[in-house]
Amino acid sequence: MVGLHEEKRFEKIHNVVFSESSIGSRSIAMEIADLIRHKQSKGDVCVLGLATGSSPKGVYNELVKMHQEEGLSFHNVVTFNLDEYFPIAPNSSHSYWHFMHEYLFDHIDIDPQNINIPKGDLQESEVRKYCLEYERKIELYGGIDLQILGIGRTGHIGFNEPGSHVNSITRLVTLDQVTREDAAGDFYGKENVPRKAITMGIGTILKAKRILLMAWGESKATVVGRMIEGDISGEIPATYLQQHHNTTVVLDTGSSAYLKRIYTPWLVGGCKWDDFTTKRAVVWLCQQTGKPILKLTERDYNDHGMNDLITAYPSTYELNIKMFNALQHTITGWPGGKPNADDSQRPERALPAQKRVVLFSPHPDDDVISMGGTFIRLHDQGHEVHVAYQTSGNIAVFDEEVIRFADFYNELKNSQDNKQSGQKEFYQKIKTDILNKGTGEMDTDDVRRIKGLIRRGEARAGCRFVGLPDERAHFLDLPFYETGRVKKLPISDEDVKITVDLLRAIQPHQIYAAGDLSDPHGTHRVCLDVIFKALEVLKDDEWLKDCYVWLYRGAWQEWGIEDIDMAVPLSPDELMKKRQAIFKHQSQKDGVVFQGTDGREFWQRAEDRNRSTAKLYDQLGLAEYEAIEAFKRYHF
Ligand code: F6R
Repeated sequence: MVGLHEEKRFEKIHNVVFSESSIGSRSIAMEIADLIRHKQSKGDVCVLGLATGSSPKGVYNELVKMHQEEGLSFHNVVTFNLDEYFPIAPNSSHSYWHFMHEYLFDHIDIDPQNINIPKGDLQESEVRKYCLEYERKIELYGGIDLQILGIGRTGHIGFNEPGSHVNSITRLVTLDQVTREDAAGDFYGKENVPRKAITMGIGTILKAKRILLMAWGESKATVVGRMIEGDISGEIPATYLQQHHNTTVVLDTGSSAYLKRIYTPWLVGGCKWDDFTTKRAVVWLCQQTGKPILKLTERDYNDHGMNDLITAYPSTYELNIKMFNALQHTITGWPGGKPNADDSQRPERALPAQKRVVLFSPHPDDDVISMGGTFIRLHDQGHEVHVAYQTSGNIAVFDEEVIRFADFYNELKNSQDNKQSGQKEFYQKIKTDILNKGTGEMDTDDVRRIKGLIRRGEARAGCRFVGLPDERAHFLDLPFYETGRVKKLPISDEDVKITVDLLRAIQPHQIYAAGDLSDPHGTHRVCLDVIFKALEVLKDDEWLKDCYVWLYRGAWQEWGIEDIDMAVPLSPDELMKKRQAIFKHQSQKDGVVFQGTDGREFWQRAEDRNRSTAKLYDQLGLAEYEAIEAFKRYHF
């Protein structure tokens, strides 16, 4: 019999999984608030260890709300931050000092004297002594009562990168390349990210009486799996938390995805077999055995913990053929539905034969990067395709591009009308704006406007290449994006209204959207939330009842085979055409402002992804295609 904890037997750290990061953040904030109040009731000081980065933003937001709405006071709270870049001035917009004040300290009643953040502006010769004092000060307060942590993709906690010792204390460290790449977005380029940092040590962290580590989104799933289920090793410093007696890891659906009990529940016992799990298990079994679906035997199922699955079917063959057909039926060359064909086993309806389609593109190039082949097919097959570019994408354009375009404008105006005044001054102003901009600082409105227009021109060129008339490209310029910084505004009614108005005007039969469901912070996720909110507003509109919503994946990852409801094959020629459409986005070629850790260009990533989906279908025993674009249907 499977015991209560049987399914967690591979897990070495206590963890809880929430459906959304916002709910997880709230639960962490509640535990912190309870502790602060408990200490207050006894007249004690509450010592909190705090972290920065994207993960704890939701927690700080909740704490600020509790202070403002429920009167939670921080008068008895002393804080110690984990780390700070080195060297950095506290008033730099990139410092953790700045971050903590922006997200928390400026909005609560903490005594500024109780705030401790490692100093990033010391002479290097002073650092060692300072770090020892930081340790001593923590001890003086009786140690940290509750430490919150995020986890880096390298497995770091604080800035304790791979190789850190379990007994390490507060010290100056060199940042890992991956960590600097992850921070590059905030600093407008990796070259601007400091190479060093002061961080509490692993030993310092392990002394905390209670530790809450949070991780949100799929990008953390691999490292979370290793932290919770792997062996303790300096290679993944977060595994040292396995030695701590009072740690809870707080996760959402995305970050918990690779825990064995979630990813391969049949290996840990007590698996509930629904269609989704069965599909995943069969695909996984094919990968383990190197066999196509129709060659899987009873023995294969038995050897891989799936005997209870096959007993539910009259024979292994029945199960195999059912799964084979399910996958076969996802494949269609008619993403808008095939006219005059039986559509009972097809992903899309045959009628109406000519559909109105709205393709939402979070940035101006996601349409062609993520579904360029399907976009071209939809248009060529006679559907009325509209593209809605949700944001201007203006922070991702290099300054040199702006000068090039301003120069072009200047030359053009000069050649047309020598008496025209103003353009020279404008050109000079743009050049000065860019020259005067400090490293990693925000652009002026004029520069941002040009950057947005550059991307708009590229998006139009992409649409024209596909064959769309100009009026079918809609530039929404959603206000939440327009901060000029990586940090965006919250979604407003205006964002939703712009989207609702467009959908009402077109009344589409199909909506395509970037479905980066578990990325809690990125622009793609916010753009998707705006669409979900718009659909909520529109839920009683008659036309919406006849509308299918298809989710594609953004530039970074692909759907798992078990998620795919529609697979659109691309021939080698079609793949080449897609590449050419992506090439219209010249400002995003040959190196981009936000490169991330993947050195490949967007067209290369897209092709690799589409080719590997096709390869997987082929390995499962389905037809062999050059490439496949994948979609998941969203039911609302
Ligand atoms: C922050 C810190 C880091 C981050 C980690 C995750 O003070 O020390 O360990 O917690 O890099 O960062 P995010 O949350 O941005 O993914």
